[in-house]
Amino acid sequence: MNKNLESITADRPNIITSQIEAISFYRKMDIKETVKEMIAGKYVIVEEFYSNGLLVLGELKKRLSFKYTDKSFQGQRAYRSAFREASHRLLIKVKENKLTVKKGPKVGWLELLYPDVSEFYVSFPEVQGMNSSWEWYKKGIEIKTLDITLKPYYNTYFPTRFDHLKLFDKWLKKYDGSKEKAIEIGVGSGVLSFQLIQNGFNDIFASDTNKNAIIGVSQECERLGFKDNITLSQGDLFENCDVKADVIVFNPPWIKAKHKLEEGIDKAMYYEDGLFDRFFEQAQNHLKPDGKIVMIFSNLAEVIETQSAHPIIDELRNNGRFRKDLHLTREVRASSRRTKREDNRKNEKVELWVLAAKTKK
Ligand SMILES: C[S@@+](CC[C@H](N)C(=O)[O-])C[C@H]1O[C@@H](n2cnc3c(N)ncnc32)[C@H](O)[C@@H]1O
Repeated sequence: MNKNLESITADRPNIITSQIEAISFYRKMDIKETVKEMIAGKYVIVEEFYSNGLLVLGELKKRLSFKYTDKSFQGQRAYRSAFREASHRLLIKVKENKLTVKKGPKVGWLELLYPDVSEFYVSFPEVQGMNSSWEWYKKGIEIKTLDITLKPYYNTYFPTRFDHLKLFDKWLKKYDGSKEKAIEIGVGSGVLSFQLIQNGFNDIFASDTNKNAIIGVSQECERLGFKDNITLSQGDLFENCDVKADVIVFNPPWIKAKHKLEEGIDKAMYYEDGLFDRFFEQAQNHLKPDGKIVMIFSNLAEVIETQSAHPIIDELRNNGRFRKDLHLTREVRASSRRTKREDNRKNEKVELWVLAAKTKK
């Protein structure tokens, strides 16, 4: 079922296994002085209680917000970057896959991602990230459209709002073409492929650049009994794909990157120049003559900044390779009405595009 699973290992936070020169932080110590040293470049190790780490981070935030008073987008980006850099010098010790401080969370990823290392330091923010991911993993994400609970692997994109799944479900229910073969690009937590399976597609090729997504979906397929239905491949777009499909599905990243993309989850949100052009060019070779490309997109980029491009509209306008078959939209239901972020995003709509190859004259 997997093209290259044996050869991939999960991406995990960097760790330090050697002795390091650092300040050990206990609650009775001068926190302001400790944070000053941390900003200046010293490592700090959280001792005694997990909450001591939270205290240090709180103080770091306070100190940096005095320094970075510019509230503009750029100013806040500089603040976040300074916080990120300094906070990663706050370390916590892990021994036999457990945090060595008292009253810390039990983070299952420490066991699953580091079976080979018995003692190490890892940054406190990375532990917080692993802890939050572990909580999602343990609890699972209930997907009502599918009647299953997903367990997203560490550092993998998973849906927290479900409007695009409802749109896709609506299209799948009406689709009456062949269901012999499907391809999903950017499989993430597997949710769209699982929708395909539940709607009668039994032979799917699915890829993702993110190694953890491929490992996670492979485990999910075992757990949910879908392993005979999906061939997984870690790689770029249609790399390793030698089939032609009736349906090609892609829920791509929605925002054009202004930074250099990192491997992993960064590529779930942001796309680099040329991604869509490469996708459409390769899709031509993997689509059966009557096949459909189904893409999920959103006006999120426009909501954030009005001058943004729309790569699907651009493709239809400029390249003459595909025609539009269908375009559905749905307002995104805010997950919480109270947060400012949701207010900014109140005009957000999710889109489903169905494209077909233009017949050559
Ligand atoms: C918005 S997420 C969608 C995940 C999932 N399909 C869903 O609908 O919840 C986009 C996914 O595409 C993957 N991706 C981004 N660029 C890719 C590429 N060039 N080739 C394959 N996958 C890519 C990302 O790693 C991410 O998992």
